[in-house]
Amino acid sequence: MIEVKGVTKSFATDNGRVDVLRGIDLSIERGERVGVVGSSGAGKTTLMHILGALDRPSSGQVVYDGHEVSALRGAALDSFRNRTVGFVFQFHQLLPEFTALENVMMPALVARKSSREASVLARDLLQEVGLAHRLTHKPGQLSGGEQQRVAIARALVLTPRLLLADEPTGNLDSVTSEEIYRLLNQIHQSRDLTMIFVTHSESLANRLDRVVRIVDGLVAS
Ligand SMILES: Nc1ncnc2c1ncn2[C@@H]1O[C@H](COP(=O)(O)OP(=O)(O)OP(=O)(O)O)[C@@H](O)[C@H]1O
Ligand SMILES: [Mg+2]
Repeated sequence: MIEVKGVTKSFATDNGRVDVLRGIDLSIERGERVGVVGSSGAGKTTLMHILGALDRPSSGQVVYDGHEVSALRGAALDSFRNRTVGFVFQFHQLLPEFTALENVMMPALVARKSSREASVLARDLLQEVGLAHRLTHKPGQLSGGEQQRVAIARALVLTPRLLLADEPTGNLDSVTSEEIYRLLNQIHQSRDLTMIFVTHSESLANRLDRVVRIVDGLVAS
């Protein structure tokens, strides 16, 4: 489903060029749950951004279902980012001025669904993630785990095929992390979804189908 071929990523900084990814090769099958681990600064978020077409590789390719993602432009790129991929960010990135319901509705509204349809979709998802009683709370009125549930619901509203979760449990205590992990698994089981999950927790990663370890910008074997 996803083929990552020789992906490199370098950033230009004031102190010269930083080579973050140095030739990532990866092949991910449909329906797989892949854990991505590696030390802080290893390039995990950078890789996730490239997989989700939020950023482009400096060289190499990401091929999704036979299409080269790095070559997408315009409407095709928007569609891939918004509809094919769901993103749960390292920091939840909910909009603080909007309620949980509105945050989850947002991608559907941007995709030009009617507000009625967006609202139905968002309510169903918030119910599925256990937040039916928090629809009108704003992010600042929610716990960290609840905020992450909202972010998960938002990522799912356009029924993506690929869920990219960047340390969804990073700022949570171990009990809440376990709940979020279970929720993601439940979501994975009930949908046709491939899931790539960055985590600092080795024990959590080991419970997924496969672990990919990023070391020095490469996939360690
Ligand atoms: N836009 C950028 N410009 C310059 N350097 C960057 C940029 N984005 C990331 N980097 C550098 O790339 C390296 C990898 O960053 P990245 O965020 O991918 O790490 P990470 O593995 O996700 O770390 P963490 O576990 O702390 O989230 C870091 O050293 C970071 O400073
Ligand atoms: Mg990161």
